[in-house]
Amino acid sequence: VISGIQVAIDGPASAGKSTVAKLVAAKYGYVYLDTGAMYRAITWAAMDAKVALDDEAAVMVVVEKTPIHFAPGTPDQLVFAGDQDVTRVIREETVTNNVSTVAALPAVRAALTAQMQTIAAAGGIVMDGRDIGTTVLPNAQVKIFLEASVAERAQRRFKENQAKGIDVSLATLEQEIAARDYKDSHRATSPLTQATDAELVDTTSLTIEEVVNKIADAIDKYINLQA
Ligand code: CDP
Ligand code: CDP
Repeated sequence: VISGIQVAIDGPASAGKSTVAKLVAAKYGYVYLDTGAMYRAITWAAMDAKVALDDEAAVMVVVEKTPIHFAPGTPDQLVFAGDQDVTRVIREETVTNNVSTVAALPAVRAALTAQMQTIAAAGGIVMDGRDIGTTVLPNAQVKIFLEASVAERAQRRFKENQAKGIDVSLATLEQEIAARDYKDSHRATSPLTQATDAELVDTTSLTIEEVVNKIADAIDKYINLQA
C-alpha cells in the first residue's frame, strides 16, 4: 500500500488551484504547499528592500537572506519571510502584479525549486503552482492542470475582493489576469504549460466539490493500481 504520493496541481491564476489543493490535502492527510506564496514572499521581500525586481543578482541577495517558512493557521496557513508574517501582505495587488517579474528570474526559480523539492521529498504532499508537474516534481504520481476562462477567473477574483472590501473593477481584473497569464506562459524558464502526462480539468462550470472529486478519483485510481 502506498502511503504518501506527490500530487501536482498547476494552472493559471484563479483556476481554483489553492482552494482545491487544500481540500485534497485535508482529505488524504497530506501536506499542502502553496508554491505561489513562496514567489510572492520573495517578491514582497525584494520590494521591501527596494531592489529592482528584474535585477537577478540583487533579488538573489534577498532570496539568500530571506528564509521562507509556513506555520499552521486558520483559515489559511501563515507565511513568513524571515521573521516577518507576510500572510496578508503577499496577497495585495502590488505584490500580485509584480510577482511574475520576479518569477521569471532563472536563479530565483532554481533556488525556490530546490526548496520545494526538499519539502516534497517525503511524499504525502499536494503542491500547487505553475511548473510543479513539468519541472518541480516531474515524477509526481498524479498531475492535474486546472483551467477556466479568463472571464470566469476574473469573476472569482472579483467576488473574493468584494468579500474583503477591495474595490477593483472586473475589467481591470480581467486585464491583470490576462497579463499575468501571458508573462507566466511566455517566460524562458519553466513557463506555465500543461505537462504531457497531466490530466486537464476545465473548472469554468464546475463547483469546488466537483473539482475535488475529480482529483480524488485520479488519486484513488493511482493508489488502487498499486495495491
Ligand atoms: O493565486 P494565484 O493563481 O493568483 O497565484 P499564485 O499561485 O499565488 O502565484 C503567483 C505567481 O507566482 C504566479 O503568477 C507566477 O508568476 C509565480 N509562480 C510561479 O512562477 N511558479 C510557481 N510554481 C508558482 C507561482
Ligand atoms: O489558487 P488559484 O489562484 O488557482 O485559485 P484560488 O485562489 O483557489 O481561487 C479560486 C476562487 O474561485 C476561490 O474564491 C474559489 O472559491 C472559487 N472557485 C473555485 O476555486 N473553483 C470552482 N470550481 C469554482 C469557484
